[in-house]
Amino acid sequence: MSGPVVVGVDGSVTGERALDWATDEARRRKRTLRVLHAYGWPLPDLPVSPDRYRAPRPGMSDGELARDVAERHAARARRAAPELTVETVVSGDLPGPALVTASLDASVVVVGSRGLGSVTELLLGSVSSHVVAHARVPVVVVRRPADPHAPVLVGVDGKPASDRAVGWAFEQAASRRVPLIAVHAWQAPVSRRHGDMLPLVHDPAMLAKEEARVLTEALTGGREEYPDVVVRACLRHERPAKALLAESTRAGLLVVGAHGRSEWRGLLLGSVSRHVLHHAGVPVAVVHERR
Ligand SMILES: Nc1ncnc2c1ncn2[C@@H]1O[C@H](COP(=O)(O)OP(=O)(O)O)[C@@H](O)[C@H]1O
Ligand SMILES: [Mg+2]
Repeated sequence: MSGPVVVGVDGSVTGERALDWATDEARRRKRTLRVLHAYGWPLPDLPVSPDRYRAPRPGMSDGELARDVAERHAARARRAAPELTVETVVSGDLPGPALVTASLDASVVVVGSRGLGSVTELLLGSVSSHVVAHARVPVVVVRRPADPHAPVLVGVDGKPASDRAVGWAFEQAASRRVPLIAVHAWQAPVSRRHGDMLPLVHDPAMLAKEEARVLTEALTGGREEYPDVVVRACLRHERPAKALLAESTRAGLLVVGAHGRSEWRGLLLGSVSRHVLHHAGVPVAVVHERR
């Protein structure tokens, strides 16, 4: 996909980190950078922390303020990457829906893990939660900046959603010229849905062999398409979220699929994706199945 890199900014420091990540992505992948600020507000009196943004002069309309927020961020991106084409979009919609609409022709959407909201105990803000659940393209959630030269880490579970994640992770590793670490974590057989019959006895060595096959197969296509990417395949007998978080401390980006093996359709996001989005320090990319 050759669409623009879309980034949502709100004047917060975390939003600025999202902008910096998006700027680097657009430069590396030779895409247009589209900086979006939406000023629709669900609850007029919701308190926001003062954080970074200051209105340049008193008495500006909401639309003028919004344009100023977008333009200031665009200027920062142009300073960092003068060769980049940078566009701004100002929307009167709510930020979540505005970003989802903007995702329709985007190659990727980037947001911060938090914004200006004052509910400081939230690990993931409402806008980022909305975008992660509803966007049609990969969504990158940035909490803190990360080393762009560190390996890309991808979680593999052998289902279609994780295949897409693996493909996208290969692209990222290739464009950064860094290794790809693919982690497949498994546990003793667990019930995946109501009524599942579990074996009373199982042979751990045989299970490990089967899980190793899942990992190898998930990587075959990417290895063929990106022969220059150095791949490290890691099998972990551990909780997936725990294994990914442990490995992520050495990574520059963590890539996961939106759904896991669990077929609980009511959930828009799998539990592993949700967990790492809340707890990983490095940027997390959630890659959806094609819809
Ligand atoms: N008004 C907005 N316009 C565009 N993007 C936004 C807006 N508000 C938030 N975002 C994006 O979503 C990220 C998370 O913010 P949000 O979910 O609102 O968290 P919080 O609840 O802490 O404010 C921000 O870092 C920014 O990337
Ligand atoms: Mg907010």
